[in-house]
Amino acid sequence: MSYFTEAASVEAVNARMGVQTNPRVREIMASLVKHLHSFAKDVNLTQEEWEHAVGFLTRTGQICTEERQEFILLSDVLGLSMLVDAIGNRRPEGATESTVLGPFHVANAPIRQMDDNISLDGKGESCLFSGRILDLGGNPIKDACLDVWSDNADGFYDVQQPGIQPKWNNRGRFFTGSDGQYRFRGIKPVSYPIPDDGPVGQMLASLGRHPYRPAHMHFIITAPRFRKLVTHTFVGEDQYLNSDAVFGVKRTLVAPYLRSDDADTRWHAPFDFVLAPSRD
Ligand code: BEZ
Ligand code: FE
Repeated sequence: MSYFTEAASVEAVNARMGVQTNPRVREIMASLVKHLHSFAKDVNLTQEEWEHAVGFLTRTGQICTEERQEFILLSDVLGLSMLVDAIGNRRPEGATESTVLGPFHVANAPIRQMDDNISLDGKGESCLFSGRILDLGGNPIKDACLDVWSDNADGFYDVQQPGIQPKWNNRGRFFTGSDGQYRFRGIKPVSYPIPDDGPVGQMLASLGRHPYRPAHMHFIITAPRFRKLVTHTFVGEDQYLNSDAVFGVKRTLVAPYLRSDDADTRWHAPFDFVLAPSRD
């Protein structure tokens, strides 16, 4: 048995883990303790600074509700959500890349027919979204489900404005036929700030960081025998593409949003998605 010393702090803590500890929990906790202690030593963390951090974490927990998850937001702005996504979603060359899910997805959105309009509040610049769901060989995928959602023209998701926006505004699920094609109407999304009226917003402000995400349409694409794809298409000319508050932008996900000649559609966003086969 060795007592705690500054030099042997990691060993002192990790030696306490019981022999029955699940091997994966052991691996994760041992590494967490190693890196936490290394961080504190690296910056010579003071008592006051640690108390400040504990206060921040306390407020982060206290603001969480069923509707608001400030810890996920913290993980998002620290780039940790995108890192975990990258580690868990290494895909074969040619498959469409994934990005962060975000907190505004709602399961079981209404199933809609191709060409339907998901914008129910009549605001914003109309946009046609179309393309194909393909496998790695370029073949169309039948029975793929596209679960899509975006903010409205004021930069809010419907769930952020219950009673103001119609329920299921800018959301829907679409199923492909044997041609793998999808087509639906919505609005050209706009950039918006992530919720910044809590501790995470204060942290961003203290770091000189803005809270904005570049405009994007969310997609979750599932199909039998293919890996689930959680992704966005970003609006090409957005001013926040290079400074997304949650680091979600990938070059391959920046989509063309083209001016359309169609009388009732101002924009057209063509984009093909390529799914990787499932691993089992
Ligand atoms: C979103 O894109 O909806 C989102 C992602 C991360 C944090 C906040 C919002
Ligand atoms: Fe979003």
